[in-house]
Amino acid sequence: MPPKSSASDPLWYKRAIIYELPVKSFFDANGDGVGDFAGLIEKLDYVQALGVTCLWVLPFFPSPLRDDGYDIADYRNVHPSYGTLDDFRRFLHAAHARHLQVVIELVVNHTSDQHPWFERARSAPPGSPERDYYVWSDTDQKYGDARIIFLDAERSNWMWDSKAQAYYWHRFFHHQPDLNYDSPAVLQDLLQVMDFWLEMGVDGFRLDAVPYLAEREGTSCENLPETHAVIKAIRRHIDGRWPNRMLLAEANQWPADVRAYFGDGDECHMAYHFPLMPRIFMALHLEDRHPIVEVMQQTPAIPEVSQWALFLRNHDELTLEMVTDEERDYMYLAYSADPQARLNLGIRRRLAPLMGNSRRRIELLNSLLFSFPGTPIVYYGDEIGMGDNTYLGDRNGVRTPMQWTGDRNAGFSRADPERLFSPIIMDPIYGYQGVNVEAQERDPSSLLQWMKNLIGLRKMFEAFGLGSLEFLEPANRKVLAYVRRHRRDAILCVANLSRSVQPVSLDLSAFSDFTPVEMLGYTDFPTIGKQPYFLTVGPYGFYWFELQRRDP
Ligand code: NOJ
Repeated sequence: MPPKSSASDPLWYKRAIIYELPVKSFFDANGDGVGDFAGLIEKLDYVQALGVTCLWVLPFFPSPLRDDGYDIADYRNVHPSYGTLDDFRRFLHAAHARHLQVVIELVVNHTSDQHPWFERARSAPPGSPERDYYVWSDTDQKYGDARIIFLDAERSNWMWDSKAQAYYWHRFFHHQPDLNYDSPAVLQDLLQVMDFWLEMGVDGFRLDAVPYLAEREGTSCENLPETHAVIKAIRRHIDGRWPNRMLLAEANQWPADVRAYFGDGDECHMAYHFPLMPRIFMALHLEDRHPIVEVMQQTPAIPEVSQWALFLRNHDELTLEMVTDEERDYMYLAYSADPQARLNLGIRRRLAPLMGNSRRRIELLNSLLFSFPGTPIVYYGDEIGMGDNTYLGDRNGVRTPMQWTGDRNAGFSRADPERLFSPIIMDPIYGYQGVNVEAQERDPSSLLQWMKNLIGLRKMFEAFGLGSLEFLEPANRKVLAYVRRHRRDAILCVANLSRSVQPVSLDLSAFSDFTPVEMLGYTDFPTIGKQPYFLTVGPYGFYWFELQRRDP
């Protein structure tokens, strides 16, 4: 009998609020300068008090850490810096005891070149099953239509291997050879890896880099039917054995292409809405709702059981792959005047610095994140407005230690500061002396308290996670207004994307005689009549109204 899953609700992921964290950056319990599972366990009270319901834990497996753990050398163990398998089990148990679900990474597309499968493949004879675990070629000219993703680091998707005397295929760093799903043994092995963690009780997997599983000549090697066949097989395998577990697709693609990763409800349960994210930032800078409304209108409907995963920032650069060239130029100009902040096709900054540390803008963007159709994901540290360090290489500047207190090492570790895996943020604006959990817990008007409040509110209304979305079309394009409905509930959201106060006239005739109740203050607004409903919204202000029908 498989162990009971931690969630009793099969649609738990639609009601969830996810918190994303790297174990190494969260809390260091053993004082070696690197965060660990024992530390994470100590901080579960904090996570629970924040109100999130699910943890997404970044890769923690044995790895040479040349891509921060997305280069896996052993799928069934824990990197010694972060603890042991038993520590992981203890963490899982402690999280479940607090009714927190746990989602981990499944890097399906590639391994590290240190993985024993690769070591075996490069010395096995060409054409043998061992060799075929990866994608080999005698030339580096095959699959020439596939783009290069890590543009700043790689010049080709092929790498010469002198041991194998052949090229191997890699969509990411050259030390991350792609697995070959044309070899059935690969999927069988990966399914066993999944069973290993599911049996332990993990609630879901984020399927990293899932569009690139198959390669075919003459195509972009993305979103191929063969890739979808693999995902369907993974889903069938899980559904047959492990109730209430979830698959989240990391497919950085256009809405119509991401749609395919839900299948007919028979592929992934969730997928990130990559194209929406940069358009939220764009709309804010343009002070015009158009980019948001347009991308949502281009977003196809998804099956009833499926859900979008929404985010503002994560552990990678703010990706600008899913925008036009013009939009990308605009975003670079608007959000990364400093070229140091740019990486690949994106911007390596956290939320608060992107918002110029404006509390009102940070709140506005979170209000969108928490009221749009989908499940919101909060990136660790953004709930206290942490800063970043663009002088650290790659994407490390947004993965610095969590700032717990104003004490040494921000209360993250008792190691000597020189020993920390990364410097702490110390500048005068975002430095740990000013921006930390302890201070914000004491300050009733801190961002942290505000976030807790918003999360609590969101959890009281199912319409946010489960409801439909309808945009209103007020003449003033600086205002974004939409209604979320679920069963008999209706919520009206109104957001002013501009720096100045705005008037807006809304056609709410469908809600004539309803009373809008402002949800943060529980304040009654005038009842809606037959005339357009007039509101004034302050700079970067937003309202969430519950539309209540009162008995006469
Ligand atoms: C996507 C992950 O989010 C990123 O951090 C990683 O480098 C690539 N996939 C390759 O695994």
